[in-house]
Amino acid sequence: MSDVLPGGTLRLSETLTVTRVGYGALQLAGPMAYGPPRDRDEALAVLRAVAAAGITHLDTSDYYGPHLVNGLVREALHPYPEGLRIATKVGARRTAERGWPAALSRPELVQAVHDNLDHLGVEALDLVNLRMTDTLAADDIVEPFTVLAELREQGLIRNLGVSNVSAQQVRTAQRIAPVVAVQNHYNIAFRQDDALVDWCAEQGIAFVPFWPLGGFRPLQAKALEQAAADLGATPRQIALAWLLHRSPTMLLIPGTSTRAHLAQSIAAATIALPDRALRTLNAIADPAH
Ligand SMILES: NC(=O)c1ccc[n+]([C@@H]2O[C@H](COP(=O)([O-])OP(=O)(O)OC[C@H]3O[C@@H](n4cnc5c(N)ncnc54)[C@H](OP(=O)(O)O)[C@@H]3O)[C@@H](O)[C@H]2O)c1
Repeated sequence: MSDVLPGGTLRLSETLTVTRVGYGALQLAGPMAYGPPRDRDEALAVLRAVAAAGITHLDTSDYYGPHLVNGLVREALHPYPEGLRIATKVGARRTAERGWPAALSRPELVQAVHDNLDHLGVEALDLVNLRMTDTLAADDIVEPFTVLAELREQGLIRNLGVSNVSAQQVRTAQRIAPVVAVQNHYNIAFRQDDALVDWCAEQGIAFVPFWPLGGFRPLQAKALEQAAADLGATPRQIALAWLLHRSPTMLLIPGTSTRAHLAQSIAAATIALPDRALRTLNAIADPAH
């Protein structure tokens, strides 16, 4: 593994230090994260390139595929390189129609943790994020997070995070067990969680934006394109560089199914954003929100 990955590292707990440039594995499954990859050999090659680049934060879930992406992670990387930390998610399941309904009952969560252990081939999970849905009330996190806290006490999980949550839900979860990461929808054009981003930085909690590149709806903004042209980068690279600049506890998990795009995302961490570019980029707002 390379010793110097641009962007540096972030320490989240005694057992969890990761590179700020990570990788999200969702795109390795078929369309809508369902079914086998379009190009299986390239998917395995992307995962090996992630490790070879020195990335130590790999974000996955057993419901990507379902099961298939964790199988690829294991096939490509097991026995895992020293230092690699795998973050996974529980709290949803997949339907044949490619839906993602909640799966937050005790038996579903226990099963999901064991499925992740089995399919990744590990004795304990480095980081498990509890995925909530946007519609649940603050207290709805208590029961499912308590189940994960118990599994942590049993040694099956080393660290806990939360996903798709409100600030109130994070604070409620913190009263049950330490929360080291918050994984919510956030990017340069979707900044509903600005206050939560700042609060996480104050608390030393990682904020891990999903859809850092816009997910299924690529980011588009004139200011992004202008900054990219001025700085000799791509708009996506500027969007990632902006996120790294936005908060010291921001971690990137951009998704891609190709090595070429992975290399571009890694290189984004070398881009310095001058004040003038930052002022324009900070003003980008998504008209839809
Ligand atoms: N907690 C949650 O509820 C939740 C929800 C969604 C996602 N996630 C996590 O967040 C991670 C990131 O989200 P995401 O992958 O859905 O969205 P994303 O990172 O915002 O965007 C990925 C998309 O950007 C494209 N892309 C990446 N680099 C590119 C480049 N250099 N040029 C052109 N296109 C490029 C990818 O296509 P190519 O494959 O062609 O590169 C893919 O279509 C996921 O992998 C997953 O781990 C979590």
